[in-house]
Amino acid sequence: MKHILVVGGAGYIGSHMVWLLGQRGVRVTVLDNLSAGHADAVLHGELVVGDMADAALLDRLLAEGAFDAVMHFASCIQVGESVADPGKYYANNVSNTITLLNAMQRHGVRQFVFSSTAATFGEPQYTPIDERHPQQPINPYGRTKWMIEQALADYEQAYGFQSVCLRYFNAAGAHPDGLLGERHEPETHLIPLVLQAASGRRSHISVFGRDYDTPDGTCIRDYIHVMDLADAHWLALEYLAAGGRSTAFNLGNGDGYSVQQVIDVARQVTGRAIPVQEGPRRAGDPARLVADAARAREVLGWRPGRADLAQIVGDAWGWECTS
Ligand code: UFG
Repeated sequence: MKHILVVGGAGYIGSHMVWLLGQRGVRVTVLDNLSAGHADAVLHGELVVGDMADAALLDRLLAEGAFDAVMHFASCIQVGESVADPGKYYANNVSNTITLLNAMQRHGVRQFVFSSTAATFGEPQYTPIDERHPQQPINPYGRTKWMIEQALADYEQAYGFQSVCLRYFNAAGAHPDGLLGERHEPETHLIPLVLQAASGRRSHISVFGRDYDTPDGTCIRDYIHVMDLADAHWLALEYLAAGGRSTAFNLGNGDGYSVQQVIDVARQVTGRAIPVQEGPRRAGDPARLVADAARAREVLGWRPGRADLAQIVGDAWGWECTS
């Protein structure tokens, strides 16, 4: 691999990927409009500040770059916002992604790694969720990602695109050396919010519902370290470079932790008090979302190295303490 275009490489997961590509000696160009990303999170390669909706800019980049592959991390990711403002999600996550794919097609770049999501599955019919689980998303965010997964199958058929869709469960953690971490504005994810309550940046964490059908009544999720996600993306690039057919993988540890367990682990890791307030259920939250990632292990040889929740929370705490 000589040159990779990373769209959204200034964001949370993208910036960890760009760092990893730097470690592997790969030339990187990042395209990011900085609507959610941060220029100082791009620790390797060249940052082009611009929008993937800008077809002329894409033409220029792709004509000059001799790219082997494109990785696409630039999405709107908030489920609640997608319900309130679906137009934003269909424009960015669908229309702009199609603009990117069509530019790739014009320039003969046909290897693509796509950030998809557990939200494409909708309400789980069984857990852990493997790749054969029906995809029936229940909100616009999940539908936009599912639409691109379907478009990619058509692009393979018609144009010979090779793509890997990586369906993240709950991305969490931070670079273990404190170089990078999660900086969403507003922050909606559980682990950073819990740690902000530990550091005093927030007064408390609200627990969204204690009446779920789970052992302690709080929702169960599969938290996967952002560095392990980056490793999976690297293996996906290698898979495509070796001529692999288009496919999708679920990425999680296969271990479910409840909201209460996350808070308990965060109390142990930080040694701080974490004030809790009880809140109502958040609309659209399934009780339990856990991945079966056996396929990624078998086909890609993926081995999550930071699966322990205390390590995930500990790395996120390192970031919270430096940021
Ligand atoms: N939660 C709280 N309090 C908070 C924030 C979250 O109790 O202040 C709970 C949620 O209700 C949920 C769990 O913590 O049960 C995890 O919530 P997150 O918001 O951190 O993550 P989600 O599981 O909602 O979302 C993740 C991804 C989304 C993706 C979704 C798939 O971040 O991008 O999984 O369903 F769409």
